[in-house]
Amino acid sequence: MTIVFALDLFHADAPRMVGTLMAKLKGVMKVPKRLQPLVDDGLVDEVLYQLMSGKEAQVYVVRCGEQVRCAKVFKEAKKRSFKQAVEYQEGRKVRNSRRARAMSKKTRYGQKEQEDAWLNAEVDALYRLAEAGVRVPEPMGFVDGVLLMELITDADGKAAPRLDDVTLTPEQARDYHGRIIAEIVRMLSAGLIHGDLSEFNVLEDSNGPVIIDLPQAVNAAGNNNAERMLERDVDNMRRYFARFAPDLLVTDYGKEIWALYERGDLQPDSKLTGCFEHDTASADVEELMAVIEAAKEEERDRLERMQLDDED
Ligand SMILES: Nc1ncnc2c1ncn2[C@@H]1O[C@H](COP(=O)(O)OP(=O)(O)OP(=O)(O)O)[C@@H](O)[C@H]1O
Ligand SMILES: [Mg+2]
Repeated sequence: MTIVFALDLFHADAPRMVGTLMAKLKGVMKVPKRLQPLVDDGLVDEVLYQLMSGKEAQVYVVRCGEQVRCAKVFKEAKKRSFKQAVEYQEGRKVRNSRRARAMSKKTRYGQKEQEDAWLNAEVDALYRLAEAGVRVPEPMGFVDGVLLMELITDADGKAAPRLDDVTLTPEQARDYHGRIIAEIVRMLSAGLIHGDLSEFNVLEDSNGPVIIDLPQAVNAAGNNNAERMLERDVDNMRRYFARFAPDLLVTDYGKEIWALYERGDLQPDSKLTGCFEHDTASADVEELMAVIEAAKEEERDRLERMQLDDED
């Protein structure tokens, strides 16, 4: 057995085979309590391994028949952090008015309704965005507080890295930045703002960036914080990509996108300039150079940290 396996390691497909073997070994993991109902219902055949435990949720890789998928288990409300903040809730449509009344009260039923509305928000957003042509994981159902969705993978079939974990060339960074801006425009044309967009919530598969993590997605039309959140999303991404291509720091897409949206002129394929006519501000070259230098330093620090991690 050992010999056969050792020989196989020289096979061209060895990394994938080792990956499968590892997944199989990990596959003996005990089914987490929150996933048991899905196993009982036959929606999930096997829980392969835990991918991440984030601030808001735990993410597992599961097997459903022949397909490997991803199951996101939302933490109970009291263990979650900032994303249920009021700024995100404003303007969310609660379809049923009995529900809306219950949610406004502090009863147990009211809290349960609020909780369900929150969990449904990510599922709704994923369906709406997939429909609008935004690259998001394909949703595959929402059962007992567990979101089943497509597992985004890299070229080797492994779970895809977050942008925070990859190093880009300046050309790649400019290309990805352009694509993310186009996705933000598509999202807003479909009425939504991500609200927590950053290098931690974008994965990289073999075709480029894929946006994830949408429970806090904001309805642009009904939320007074919408403009600010849109600008924050755009700024976060600009700052991230500028680590690799500092020239991106001079772009200003947020205000331009919002101005078009407010005028009712935003289309999914709107052409943008990346410039915006500010009323007062005149470009302060010294300040800009300082910002560019700070971004470069941040990236040097990050690379140093990665090197230290590798050495550990
Ligand atoms: N569909 C997917 N395919 C591959 N990996 C995924 C997928 N969804 C989530 N992940 C992985 O799980 C991690 C956590 O997922 P997500 O960001 O949705 O949850 P979260 O708890 O809100 O995380 P955080 O609070 O850390 O942002 C992601 O950073 C990513 O690495
Ligand atoms: Mg996240």
